Amino acid sequence: MTRLKSMEFKKTGGAPAGEAPEGETFYHLPVLLNETVSLLVTSKEGVYIDGTLGGGGHSAALLALLAPAGKVVGIDRDPEAIARATARLSTEAGRFSAVRGNYSAIAEILAGLGIEKVDGILLDLGVSSRQLDAGERGFSFMRDGPLDMRMGPDAPLTAAQIVNDYPEERLVRVFREYGEEPRAARAARSIAAQRGKTPFSTTGELAAAIEKALGRNSEKHPATRIFQALRIEVNRELEGLEKFLASFPKVLKPGGRVAVISYHSLEDRLVKNAFRALEPHCVCPPRSPICNCGEPGILRVLTRKAVKPSDEETKANSRARSARLRAAELIAPDSEMKRWKSRH
Ligand SMILES: C[S@@+](CC[C@H](N)C(=O)[O-])C[C@H]1O[C@@H](n2cnc3c(N)ncnc32)[C@H](O)[C@@H]1O
Repeated sequence: MTRLKSMEFKKTGGAPAGEAPEGETFYHLPVLLNETVSLLVTSKEGVYIDGTLGGGGHSAALLALLAPAGKVVGIDRDPEAIARATARLSTEAGRFSAVRGNYSAIAEILAGLGIEKVDGILLDLGVSSRQLDAGERGFSFMRDGPLDMRMGPDAPLTAAQIVNDYPEERLVRVFREYGEEPRAARAARSIAAQRGKTPFSTTGELAAAIEKALGRNSEKHPATRIFQALRIEVNRELEGLEKFLASFPKVLKPGGRVAVISYHSLEDRLVKNAFRALEPHCVCPPRSPICNCGEPGILRVLTRKAVKPSDEETKANSRARSARLRAAELIAPDSEMKRWKSRH
């Protein structure tokens, strides 16, 4: 098997990365494409997991780089994403397959496919442009639609249920923690007062109520943070990411890599801290004359600072603006991983 240190992505055929196949409408423009693929791929014959398949842009780029023996498995919660990417990559039969599921259950999903370990895992977090732009999915305050926000049918609650049924104090917590909204209490109070008269059912009603409560004194719509908070709560996004970060080393081969693209500081902080915690570090008391803590670390962080998109990319795709890429490599051999697994 060829092991490659670092790789420049070159299109070698197949569907052009980031573009919709001929005759199909725009779905999503992949972010930090070259940077991600070149950090992730170490073996052209390897097996790679795209845990957030979306429109299949990153998967297409991976397939274009891999040798004929290389494989990509895509996972997405959203049946529409699975259908779209499967159609787009239909010429890759045998090298590409897609599974509907939650990447947080990556170990179980791979076990179900009979795959024990893989060479690389990619997560490109959040929602796709398609999900955001489809009014009927209810993700955007810019488009009127039902207050839904579920990425897939596995999400237990809709945004309408949360907005109409959560106690006011719980709404404050959600808006504060997941939206980092400084005026969370004011927004929640106003929502609680209004829903007592008529429950909220559309994104337009909620956006208007938030605008009325918080006013508008910057270019940013006052509902931006509240909508982000609701989306995170509906889809249990941070819990899912935490579960993934606690389990991905179990399914990586030694030398295998993980790459995560985040779009807000809550996600990026989780990724940064989880990677750091798995790096070699000594936890012996400071006065201990020798190290005997047995915490050799299992991961090498490849991105000391998060990789950001170039000015060129953010000019071409404003949604790339907040993207931050972090990657790491599993350095522990299988024997060491057994010890690590027994403790986690
Ligand atoms: C930013 S898009 C990915 C776009 C993709 N990289 C591309 O190039 O088209 C994120 C996708 O991840 C999916 N997703 C988000 N959280 C997920 C989770 N916990 N499990 C599986 N899929 C998830 C969403 O449904 C969405 O389709």
